[in-house]
Amino acid sequence: MCGIVGYVGQKTAKPYLLDGLKRLEYRGYDSAGLALFSEKDYVIKRNAGPVQGLADATLDSGQRETMGIAHTRWATHGAPNETNAHPHRAGDLVLVHNGIIENYSEIKDRLTKTGVRFSSQTDTEVFAQLIEFHRRKIQDQQPNLSAEDILISALETSMKEVDGHYAILLMARSVPGKIFGVQNGAPLVASPLKGGCLIASDIQAIIPYHNEVCFLPKGEILVAENGKFWTRAPGSSALHAPKLERMDWTADKVEKDGFDSFMLKEIFQQPLVVADTLSGRLPAKEHEPFIWDHQKAHEVLWKNVKKLYLIACGTSYHAALISKYFFEKWAKIDCEVDIASEFRYRSPVLAPGTVVGVISQSGETADTLAALRLANAAGASTFSICNVPSSTIARESGFQYPTKAGPEIGVASTKAFTAQLTVLCTLALDVGRLRGHLDLASFRALARLPHDLDRVLGQSETFIKIGEKLKDRRMVLFVGRGTMYPMALEGALKMKELTYLPSEGFAAGELKHGPIAYIDKDITVVTLAPKDDWYSKTLSNLEEIRARGGHIIAIGSETDEQIKRQCLSGGDEFIGLPESAWGTQPILSVVPLQLLAYGCAKALGRNIDKPRNLAKSVTVE
Ligand code: F6R
Repeated sequence: MCGIVGYVGQKTAKPYLLDGLKRLEYRGYDSAGLALFSEKDYVIKRNAGPVQGLADATLDSGQRETMGIAHTRWATHGAPNETNAHPHRAGDLVLVHNGIIENYSEIKDRLTKTGVRFSSQTDTEVFAQLIEFHRRKIQDQQPNLSAEDILISALETSMKEVDGHYAILLMARSVPGKIFGVQNGAPLVASPLKGGCLIASDIQAIIPYHNEVCFLPKGEILVAENGKFWTRAPGSSALHAPKLERMDWTADKVEKDGFDSFMLKEIFQQPLVVADTLSGRLPAKEHEPFIWDHQKAHEVLWKNVKKLYLIACGTSYHAALISKYFFEKWAKIDCEVDIASEFRYRSPVLAPGTVVGVISQSGETADTLAALRLANAAGASTFSICNVPSSTIARESGFQYPTKAGPEIGVASTKAFTAQLTVLCTLALDVGRLRGHLDLASFRALARLPHDLDRVLGQSETFIKIGEKLKDRRMVLFVGRGTMYPMALEGALKMKELTYLPSEGFAAGELKHGPIAYIDKDITVVTLAPKDDWYSKTLSNLEEIRARGGHIIAIGSETDEQIKRQCLSGGDEFIGLPESAWGTQPILSVVPLQLLAYGCAKALGRNIDKPRNLAKSVTVE
């Protein structure tokens, strides 16, 4: 969940490193550090707090070194302070790390007995000390080897002893002018620049400079120097030219464009994101809807599917939960949804005919990746819905149904969720069509979505103002039925992660089985109340809440005079959305939920793009 960057070349390294860290800060932001190779040694600067603190601290240091590595941290082992911030030094080496070393305490004990002293509580320092330990040993045993061969041999030996998933970059005083990298399950991307080479844990730090990148294969060692880099397979001294891939993301997509936060910009991008995701996938002719060009996927995944598992975490899990309703109704497929961190540790029955779909914005979430690997190993047919086409999950899944949301920088997921729902909605409809259940009306409803989303965003000021008023509430509950039940979970997640206020989501039918005990005049209940098959039941829920003095924000249809009148006359709030088809209602309803949370978080002075304790890409388990 940390971000790492390295630069080696003819230019000054520090601006590349600091700019890269700022772009990767969404991955972790509790401390940051950099190491520059200067003359014959390193200059290391580490700072508790965000990257800006590091930038300020190194502003006028006059450092003009042309090689360095840097890190922005999301603490796993050890408090987020300067001592535990990366880079970590061990004798000849300095190292930055993204990921987790699972057996670090065992290795630490072993090294401590040999006299190694540790200065931090991190697993990263253990990795650095282990490599240094082997480097010295190999140097003593084989003094005729070159310093580079000794280092690489030490790295390979250490990798065999370390359990976990990680990506590291390191520099060694004994091998000046080169940066070394390895990855074991956490991405590492390198790109050749004019007279330089940039390496990072994620393409966000690279695309402003170049759009051709190499994804370092797992287990291989990257050797980068002035303008060139190679990879070498473990145990082999042969150097391979990197396989470069062209990325279609551009730097201008990662700017705020005048919005006060990336999150707000991303909320406003949703009509465009949906239009992009639908582009070319809507029915061309009246009787011939054709969304996904998936002839092969049809044969492998859908023709004989008996059971569909959808697996994800967080907001992506909510998208999966909503689409269970879609797959059951339109495709008539038995669909089970699970949280990745539960699925992977159960003994799920993946009988022949089981299809497993994993959903992930980043494509790097550790638990979701582990669930996918479990499904692949069990012989299930798999597919992914990812926003980063080059991500590990996308690459390791049997089929890909990509979302086209573009880079999502705000830590709280917004447009990626909308894009996931759009893909899931179109996919369920299309699989239904392939299996002989054609719902043409719902296909057509999709075409209106970008337009309707625009209309919903036209009320953004109102949603934000209502959100601001929530800042003094003791708790905010979210309730809904059918597809609006997972939407309630999503509304509560957005509220808690952005505002830190207690908030919970429930199936409205469950209110009276417990959560109703929460309700009094200090509690707000956001009630998702579209005009659907459960409308009359939702009306009863509203009465139950009102009778207990709870404050209501009802999100319903703009033509619903009944709920509107009741809310406005009783001092409650009403949010009216355009009438839409059942399948597209969740996509419209998420906008007010996002903006309520945004408005409340702004009023409380929270950091919108970087809520405390969170990170964008959860690459630890
Ligand atoms: C919430 C949020 C997280 C992510 C979750 C999964 O706003 O962003 O709950 O949805 O960490 O991440 P991905 O989709 O990248 O697997």
